[in-house]
Amino acid sequence: MTARIISLLADLYKIQDLETKEVLSGKATGLFRYKKMSPKVGDIVEYDKLPDNQIYITKIHERKNDLVRPAITNIDQAIVVMSVLEPCFNDNLLDRFLTILEFNNIDAIILFSKWDLLENVEEMEKVFKYYQSLGYRCYKVSTKQDTLDNKQISGLFKGKVSVLTGQSGVGKSSLLNYLYPNLTLKTNEISKALGRGKHTTRHVELLELSEGLVADTPGFGTMDFSGFEEIDIMHSFKEFFEYSKECKYNGCLHIKEPHCMVKTKLDSGEILQTRYTNYLQFIEECKKLRKWWLKMKVSPSILSMDFSRKEEEINKLNDTDAEYIHLDVMDGHFVSNTTFDEQFIKTIKSDKIFDTHLMIKEPLKQLHKYVPYTTYLTFHYEAETKENILEYLKNKKDDCLIGLSIKPGTDVRVLDEMLPYLDLVLVMSVEPGKGGQKFMESSLLKLEYLSNKKKVLGYKYLIEVDGGINEQTAKLVKGVGCEIVVAGSYVFSSSDYQTAIDKIR
Ligand code: DX5
Ligand code: ZN
Repeated sequence: MTARIISLLADLYKIQDLETKEVLSGKATGLFRYKKMSPKVGDIVEYDKLPDNQIYITKIHERKNDLVRPAITNIDQAIVVMSVLEPCFNDNLLDRFLTILEFNNIDAIILFSKWDLLENVEEMEKVFKYYQSLGYRCYKVSTKQDTLDNKQISGLFKGKVSVLTGQSGVGKSSLLNYLYPNLTLKTNEISKALGRGKHTTRHVELLELSEGLVADTPGFGTMDFSGFEEIDIMHSFKEFFEYSKECKYNGCLHIKEPHCMVKTKLDSGEILQTRYTNYLQFIEECKKLRKWWLKMKVSPSILSMDFSRKEEEINKLNDTDAEYIHLDVMDGHFVSNTTFDEQFIKTIKSDKIFDTHLMIKEPLKQLHKYVPYTTYLTFHYEAETKENILEYLKNKKDDCLIGLSIKPGTDVRVLDEMLPYLDLVLVMSVEPGKGGQKFMESSLLKLEYLSNKKKVLGYKYLIEVDGGINEQTAKLVKGVGCEIVVAGSYVFSSSDYQTAIDKIR
């Protein structure tokens, strides 16, 4: 039997049978785990009903496209709502949306909303026509004026899987309500189910709207160009790509190359100046991001520093380019050693990102003490019950990024249900409690598992490893997708901290 996945919460999928339209709840078979791929919202799948009435997804059909954030596949079209006033038209954001959509092979439809508010129609008209000339379907819409293109877009969703996105504050819901007066409930549902704020990146759902399926999303991931090469940006600017056939140099990036047709068309006014400016900016962003991602991030652990010369040691760290500073809190219960608590952390003077690792019992009772003094706050899975952790994560109000850590003996899969809520996962590659131990290679499989999950499901957590990191082991963890390494003894036993950090990267 064939169905489409319409939502996913923890490991429970809601699927809609393609023939009967019946909506059912089911799970994915364990098979996918080994194939390192998970079914996603939007997937067309085969499913079986077992005698006990349990539904199991057994096969995923080939995907037409596959977005990471929101984690959704097989999208027919994206409807991008951009207001022309209040908030002002944002050409950079529109070009950003279009670039990401082109890259993912998704048709874009642009709704220029609040058109009735325009005083200077001419200028906007020019922009409108420009995007239209690129082949995008463009519509002028308004909830105040019926004469615009409102009527034409009534059938927009019919028979399609769409993502609805756009600038924040453009009034997507009121626009939908206006266009589809009978759908008040549904749009409320959209804003409720996916309402702005915390839950938007975590929960993706396809809702029925006007005979189609729609996922509402504020954007795509961080709306940056992770995973892009410069050439991808170039190909995503449709008109640049066309003109590039007449550039003198193959692979011309239209920046400083001579005899560049894009530059010629820009000078003659056939290319919008804003398009070109945005293009240059995106190329720059793309370069910077790549540099940042290629670099292994380092979090020196002060556990190994000379505490009698605390300030001097911290200053020496501040002089390095390490991104983080790792703070190991031990309480003499969860581990046998005792180190420091929030009162000590409070006194550390550094601009680095504080990465606090709590090795204490009942951490959930004490988290609040640390929140004001750290950016990342990581506690141990083993120190709490799964139920308590989930409850905390689902209702989290603390203004802090939360990580979970697992000891070498803990199976990484215990974290599955919590992954969507985490900002960081810390894999211990030594028994927690002291520095200077030998790296355990069993951590590599866990890191790889986390890295695959993150890629496939679009989770946001950073992947960090802690224990026994040196020049050699850093290479191993980098190879399996680790993004941050904690390094204590290796950094602090070296004569020059920066050199040690360089070697780890
Ligand atoms: C171990 C601590 C680590 C420790 C790592 O319990 O969590 O952060 O400082 O030290 P090295 O890098 O020496 O293994
Ligand atoms: Zn640590």
